[in-house]
Amino acid sequence: MIVITGANNGLGLELVKIFLKHNFYVIAISKNNYNLKKINNSNLKIITGNLNKNNTLKKIKKYITKNNIHIDLLINNVGFSCIEKNPYFAFTQINKIINTNLISVMKLTNMILTIRKANNSKKIHIVNILSSVAFKGNQNAIYSVSKWGLRGYTECLKAIYTNNTVMISNIVPCSMNTSYWANKPKNIDKSKFANPTLVANDIFIHLTSEKKYEDLILKKERYSNIV
Ligand SMILES: NC(=O)c1ccc[n+]([C@@H]2O[C@H](COP(=O)([O-])OP(=O)(O)OC[C@H]3O[C@@H](n4cnc5c(N)ncnc54)[C@H](OP(=O)(O)O)[C@@H]3O)[C@@H](O)[C@H]2O)c1
Repeated sequence: MIVITGANNGLGLELVKIFLKHNFYVIAISKNNYNLKKINNSNLKIITGNLNKNNTLKKIKKYITKNNIHIDLLINNVGFSCIEKNPYFAFTQINKIINTNLISVMKLTNMILTIRKANNSKKIHIVNILSSVAFKGNQNAIYSVSKWGLRGYTECLKAIYTNNTVMISNIVPCSMNTSYWANKPKNIDKSKFANPTLVANDIFIHLTSEKKYEDLILKKERYSNIV
């Protein structure tokens, strides 16, 4: 079973579609479900809820434990940002970005690893979706910090789990033309950004290959001439 978060839009939605197309079972988790509901596939389970709320985590735990589900792959794709280029960030923005991109991911991952431990400790692969802002300073400071934190979390999990039953890796997408950019400055030309369907296709190929446990960095040049 594959779990994909932030699955109602953008990259998450495209990942859901491509894994379903190849007959995988998918649990799609997202705040809303208006796009997911349009998918007619019995291999899809939709869990709707805000991952920053403990109630959503409880709902996910209940579904997994009640149905005795083994998760082979968890893709922590959920991500949120808003315009925040000046240093005087509103506290609510700081909380929302760090909670969504880092704390909710740590809570969900921790919960899934705990369920796994109680359930014969079968092999699991955890994939964290980062961004290039996790590698250098960026004016979009809080978002950048959240992704630096997520990269740090990946490294810590790698240090904890050394016996090859919990595998952890990063995927670093390039800029994609998704709803992530809604309400962002109008001067950003999204038409040059990668098509998330193509990015999801590359991620799918990687995650079903022998190299799946290696980090994957997707460069924008790869998509610049493909529409
Ligand atoms: N787009 C880019 O250029 C880009 C570049 C590098 C990395 N990334 C990263 O790639 C990942 C996917 O980005 P994207 O562009 O596909 O984003 P997106 O189009 O904005 O989609 C994000 C998804 O996450 C869901 N979501 C947001 N907050 C949530 C919460 N608190 N609880 C549950 N679900 C929540 C949204 O739900 P609703 O649909 O219900 O609102 C949406 O389905 C993110 O981690 C992002 O940081 C994006």
